[in-house]
Amino acid sequence: MTVYNFSAGPAVLPRPVLEKAQSELLNYRGSGMSVMELSHRSSLFEAIIKDAEALLRKLMGIPENYQVLFLQGGASLQFSMIPLNLAQNKKALYVNTGSWSKKAIEAAKALGNVTVEVVASSEDQNFTYIPEISEDAIDQEAAYLHITTNNTIEGTAFQTIPQAGNVPIVADMSSNILANDYRVEDFGVIYAGAQKNIGPAGLTVVIIREDLLNDDAVFAPMLDYRLQAKNDSLYNTPPTYAIYIAKLVFEWLEELGGIPAILEQDRQKAALLYETIEASALYSSPVAVDSRSLTNIPFVTGDKALDQRFNEEAVKAGFENLKGHRSVGGMRASLYNAFPLAGVQALVDFMKSFEAEVK
Ligand SMILES: Cc1ncc(COP(=O)(O)O)c(C=O)c1O
Repeated sequence: MTVYNFSAGPAVLPRPVLEKAQSELLNYRGSGMSVMELSHRSSLFEAIIKDAEALLRKLMGIPENYQVLFLQGGASLQFSMIPLNLAQNKKALYVNTGSWSKKAIEAAKALGNVTVEVVASSEDQNFTYIPEISEDAIDQEAAYLHITTNNTIEGTAFQTIPQAGNVPIVADMSSNILANDYRVEDFGVIYAGAQKNIGPAGLTVVIIREDLLNDDAVFAPMLDYRLQAKNDSLYNTPPTYAIYIAKLVFEWLEELGGIPAILEQDRQKAALLYETIEASALYSSPVAVDSRSLTNIPFVTGDKALDQRFNEEAVKAGFENLKGHRSVGGMRASLYNAFPLAGVQALVDFMKSFEAEVK
């Protein structure tokens, strides 16, 4: 039975990447060692991390005046590192668009010396839309405006990036990095946990404009962007194998035609599922049409028992991890870059036959 993995993360990886990793697992480029066994100071690993950075720069069009950091601690550690590095004794602005935004807000508040202001929120309607952010609401003295570009749990995404004047925009791009047409220049900081569109869990990518590195020192060296940048992400032992897999994913994406090519595929996959939901009398999407995510697509039947039956039958048919997040319920299909169109086709066929069965 073919298994399709709809997990929100850690998520499906491109098969050619896994095959390449398998072929190099025991003996990386004639070294007689696995990448896992290489010193992070060896020339072989240095080439891997440099190539990974160069490929990511090319794919995303990252300008020279931005640093690319390969860190650990997940996107969740960035919830603290961002305010710690950029907003101590200052004001930080947040847009509250869901569970992950809320956690980012809580982490900034927990520092105790950051004035946190929520400038827009969609909590009034269960986070089912992306709120308007008026430039007038942006205090130009603020250290940054934080947004979550794609809300993994709720299934919403920013279609355009808000205007914030001179205030840098900091973006949690964990679930739609490399799957959007945003411009890096519109952000001060972009960060993402790797385990969706980049590679395995354990790696966190941070892209930061250099002028934002000139801040007061941070008390903990590992949490200091300047120190991490100065040491080219090698201040301590980085997650070497995760960086290697990320490099393979970037190569795969580059060969495919880069972001324009993958975005076309992502749009096609998402359209197939949204059109099926729209055409059905059973399924519906809780998300406002103009706020819908390409990568995380929740849907419900409106009947909890039926949702449960759907999920049980889906697993039997080889559809893994379709169950919606525990805070939302229903179903959620995460269609990241590596998820194949054939899997979406198989899902919509299954959805149609389930609908016919329960009618
Ligand atoms: C948008 C978003 N932000 C943050 C996180 C937390 O990431 P991590 O588990 O890497 O800390 C996730 C995880 O799913 C996410 O989807």
